[in-house]
Amino acid sequence: MSTDKLLELDNVTKYFYKPVGLFGRKKQTIQSVDHVSFDIFRHETFGLVGESGCGKSTLGRTITRLYEPTEGRVVYDGTDISHLTGPQLLPFRKRIQMIFQDPYASLDARMTVMDIIREALDLHSELTTKEARNQRVYELLDHVGLMKEHANRYPHEFSGGQRQRIGIARALAVNPEFIVCDEPISALDVSIQAQVVNMLEDLQREFGLTYLFIAHDLSMVRHISNRIGVMYLGKLVELGDSEEIYQNHLHPYTEALLSSVPVPDPEVARGSEPIMLQGDIPSPIDPPSGCRFRTRCPYAMGICAEQEPSLCQVGSNHAVACHKVSSAIEEKKEVTE
Ligand SMILES: Nc1ncnc2c1ncn2[C@@H]1O[C@H](COP(=O)(O)OP(=O)(O)O)[C@@H](O)[C@H]1O
Ligand SMILES: [Mg+2]
Repeated sequence: MSTDKLLELDNVTKYFYKPVGLFGRKKQTIQSVDHVSFDIFRHETFGLVGESGCGKSTLGRTITRLYEPTEGRVVYDGTDISHLTGPQLLPFRKRIQMIFQDPYASLDARMTVMDIIREALDLHSELTTKEARNQRVYELLDHVGLMKEHANRYPHEFSGGQRQRIGIARALAVNPEFIVCDEPISALDVSIQAQVVNMLEDLQREFGLTYLFIAHDLSMVRHISNRIGVMYLGKLVELGDSEEIYQNHLHPYTEALLSSVPVPDPEVARGSEPIMLQGDIPSPIDPPSGCRFRTRCPYAMGICAEQEPSLCQVGSNHAVACHKVSSAIEEKKEVTE
């Protein structure tokens, strides 16, 4: 893995505005992604985890510029793409691709596999003859473990895993560098998940790809991610090397996410009491003051309601946004001084 920055997120924020009231004149603000900053390095896999509704897909769609950020900057390979449109955005549409959770919903049921993949080529490819494009479709099918014969079939004729392979072939068609994988295995049978993950890893090596890999559960990203970011209600709460997040996570929310892993992982249990999350995730329309996790946090203190914790560096590649962690580090410093 290099330390060459491919993507830089600087306070990336995405709000949606929902009309309310009789004539829809008032608007509620949905703070889906709120001032999120981190970098992704070339050729790495960055895992992004958090419960459903915490803003993972919104962040993925803002990075791929399906959405325009409300605030902050998305810098891709040195260019601020936050507000680019039309022909300025087009080269980045090619370099950055996305694959989706539900491969059935994201594939047009009326189109054959050939048409679905060729459509991506038609938009971007230098291949000028139909013959060359068809050939390229066959090559792409081969890359994702499908056969030439599959090209004339329709999405409903395939299994979930095969449909996800078609979605991956479509994303690869334009030779991207960076792929946002938005829960690509969550909807698949457990027996198929590893196959798709292994294939994504092989493709990464073969084509030098960089991934943002989104999942709602930490166990899915552990082995494939170099680094992991944990999101809660639109905020990044912890960030670090993958093993560091597993072995030495410090944020109570990360602890809770790991305690909720259905098959207890002996390495994770470490003899500690599991934290069970109380209540539902609050609404991003009116998030709690201070630390957004405080309403469900067993360690919440006075300051947590008053002041938003900032993401503090706690190790060479580990950062946490939690008042309890920051004050414990301060105390330790005072004792040793
Ligand atoms: N297009 C949209 N319009 C309004 N609200 C949205 C839209 N997309 C997402 N949201 C809201 O933003 C929050 C984050 O959603 P999402 O990014 O889909 O979370 P996740 O992918 O982590 O499950 C949710 O409260 C969701 O209802
Ligand atoms: Mg999502």
